[in-house]
Amino acid sequence: MPKLPAPPLPAALKEPPPRPREQDDGAHHPAAAAGINVVDWVDERTSLSGGARWMMYRKVPKGTNWFYTLGSATMFAFLSQAVTGVFLAMYYRPDPAGGAYESIRYVTNDVFLGQFVRGMHKWGSSVMVILVFLHMGRTFFFGAYKYPRELNWVIGVVLLILTMTMSFTGYLLPFDQRAYWATIVGVNINGTGPLLGPYLSDFLRGGSEFGATTLSRFYAIHMLLVPGAIAALLGAHLYLVAKLGTTAPPWQKAEKRAELREAEA
Ligand code: HEM
Repeated sequence: MPKLPAPPLPAALKEPPPRPREQDDGAHHPAAAAGINVVDWVDERTSLSGGARWMMYRKVPKGTNWFYTLGSATMFAFLSQAVTGVFLAMYYRPDPAGGAYESIRYVTNDVFLGQFVRGMHKWGSSVMVILVFLHMGRTFFFGAYKYPRELNWVIGVVLLILTMTMSFTGYLLPFDQRAYWATIVGVNINGTGPLLGPYLSDFLRGGSEFGATTLSRFYAIHMLLVPGAIAALLGAHLYLVAKLGTTAPPWQKAEKRAELREAEA
């Protein structure tokens, strides 16, 4: 059979002619291209850049202002809590017979930067609670809970409850006098709730008395259950923000279409 000529290479696949040395600004150096090629390599196999573009390159309404950063600020407070929490968990022991208190004393007084990391986690928890309320206030006063964002508001309410649960369960962990008695009060308050209240306080205590089960239960809820739930719900929350876009401030008037403006004039 006669050999057919090979089809011509598409222009994009042809190697460009080498640039003259005097024009080379370094951007075309193989070392600079290496970084781009890794990103391209991953993208060709995952198409992740499409998702990133969908998430990040969005039009935002006119009048968007600093109050719109409160949600992201809350998210960064959460991430900071997650990172500092991992380091604290490397030393913490949920042992009510002195071990918990001693492990926290050790982190504070003896571990390199331990007091700093513990301080970030402790103050960061208050920062996150304040930010989540401010963010909720912003979405409420800007009417962002209305159609079609009701579901995102409901997810937000669950995120608010989970954030408060983080504060409540974290407060017991140092297991000093203040943590112990404040949590007894908190669990008793939970017990006064209608119908489910007594079951909830029994569940939190892990029995009728405060003890070893209570502390390890609070620790598991604090560092596994609730952060996992917050991370998952945050994914849904951000998906809906990207899908629906953000609300314009209530004082922003919609621009009239050109033909309507002309008809009025
Ligand atoms: C862990 C807590 C939370 C995090 C990390 C978080 C994060 C965010 C982020 C990053 C945005 C987009 C930017 C913005 O509008 O600020 C947003 C939007 C929104 N959030 Fe949250 N949020 C949290 C809790 C809440 C709560 C408690 C509510 C209400 C009960 C809520 C309701 C909303 C609504 C309705 C929007 C859409 C805003 C709009 O369309 O303009 N979020 N959230």
